[in-house]
Amino acid sequence: MKIYLETYGCQMNVGDSGKILHLFRQQGYEPVAAARDADLVVINTCSVREKPELKLFSALGRYIPLKRRNPDLVIAVGGCVAQQWGERLQEKSPGLDIVFGTHQLDRLPEMVTAVRRRRIPLSRTEFGPVPGGLEVMARPESGTVSAMVTIMQGCDNFCSYCIVPYVRGREYSRPSRAIIEEIEMLAAAGVREVMLLGQNVNSYGCKTPGEIGFAELLRQVAGIDGIARIRFTTSHPKDLTDELIAVFGELEKLCPALHLPLQAGSDRVLERMGRGYSASAYLEKVEKLRRVVPDIALTTDIIVGFPGESEADFAATLKMLEQVRYDQIFSFKYSPRPGTRAAAFADMVSEEEKKERLARCQAFQDEISFAILAEQVGRVSEVMVTGPSKRGGEWSGRTPENRIVNFPVAAGEIGPGELLRVKITEAMKHSLRGEVAP
Ligand code: 5AD
Ligand code: SF4
Repeated sequence: MKIYLETYGCQMNVGDSGKILHLFRQQGYEPVAAARDADLVVINTCSVREKPELKLFSALGRYIPLKRRNPDLVIAVGGCVAQQWGERLQEKSPGLDIVFGTHQLDRLPEMVTAVRRRRIPLSRTEFGPVPGGLEVMARPESGTVSAMVTIMQGCDNFCSYCIVPYVRGREYSRPSRAIIEEIEMLAAAGVREVMLLGQNVNSYGCKTPGEIGFAELLRQVAGIDGIARIRFTTSHPKDLTDELIAVFGELEKLCPALHLPLQAGSDRVLERMGRGYSASAYLEKVEKLRRVVPDIALTTDIIVGFPGESEADFAATLKMLEQVRYDQIFSFKYSPRPGTRAAAFADMVSEEEKKERLARCQAFQDEISFAILAEQVGRVSEVMVTGPSKRGGEWSGRTPENRIVNFPVAAGEIGPGELLRVKITEAMKHSLRGEVAP
């Protein structure tokens, strides 16, 4: 049997798709690169921004007609759009066999079996106290250097613009014992870097009596032999504690890189977003971090054109970019999400204004990003080899700060996962070039 899997959205979804693939591999399925060659098509959707339904319906418009040639084809939609729409998706798209919500991932195999037997559409979108599928541990493919490990799911923050708490459910932390066992299994299979994933990893364990907190979890992960680098995403600034900041100075394996979503630089906008911090409180945390790790590379998420955002509010966001000097930002135009508080705000910013601010924001950041890359020239960095470079003919790797470095090495001399000292020789627009240091 063949499975074709399409994934939209964030790293959490990429992690979930890895689990889905693992579940079906156990049943003898092989992944294929085209839906027309598959017996099972799974689309893992995301609804955080923009018009995810358009993308989904256009994909279904391509895949459902494949059933004419292959009547046994089963089509399933999961993830956040599935959670939000439930069986209404099947009313809109006759021929869609399965809708599975964000807590139902582990039920997918039995749903596929049931559909094959009875040929009736199925939909499951209940929320349980524990999201199903979190304990599915996908074995890495051989040669995998870096792996993602979901440590928690859901979110209780209810930022006014955000749909995540509605489609992923309440915050749930996996037992630390299971996380450690999974990472030990990954390390034994050759993985050298782990990325710990969750909507807000900083609050890991906080709501589970008897569970360790995130700082302690990091210490335990750092104790696992074979793991050389630890990263995590994503963090809420309000939950970035002094203890966690101190851990950056304590654990050598913890990479000096942090994604710390700011969203906006104006206190008025932050307040209306329900973020729970002011620009100055955010800056204070950044200063503390830099006192512990002077070279820490920060990245962030920015929303432009939030309802009521004035030109002065937007200028405050640019000012924060200038003050913090992020390595990179991920910036988005605000888009109202159904059911969220901000979707009902009256003072929407026009589409042109949002477009224009986004372009200004990105151009402003491009200069900062390039200046930071240029400052690296002449330094020697420890680079973890990830594989051949995209353009070919060279190797590619990442610095501890997560900057991409391409460098020439004769074929056969190195392989993925190796740590090399590389001297940075040139800054490109989004990456660095270097040569292996003697
Ligand atoms: N509009 C625009 N961007 C959004 N994000 C979340 N919700 C919205 C929305 N309604 C962005 C935030 C978040 C990232 C994952 O997506 O910046 O950090
Ligand atoms: Fe959404 Fe806010 Fe939770 Fe992040 S912290 S997932 S932005 S509600």
